Amino acid sequence: MQTTRFVVAPISDFPSGTRKIVTVNGHEIGVFNVEGTLYAIFNYCPHRAGPLCAGRTRPLVISSGVYQREYAREGQILKCPWHQ
Ligand code: FES
Repeated sequence: MQTTRFVVAPISDFPSGTRKIVTVNGHEIGVFNVEGTLYAIFNYCPHRAGPLCAGRTRPLVISSGVYQREYAREGQILKCPWHQ
């Protein structure tokens, strides 16, 4: 798999816990700094083309059984703002 790199902004524009939507070759890309690691994804939801990167970040919900739930990876799961 070939990787292509683009310079979109200085690293100082991405403090930990923030996001920024940039445009690369006409495509909107959401860049997220999650605890010091940068992630980039298309600002496009595969469900109905919603602006995925404008959504809330939530924890991962884990269930080991009925009425059981725990939360992990707080703020690391991105939810599309249109239909969650
Ligand atoms: S468009 Fe994203 S959940 Fe429907």
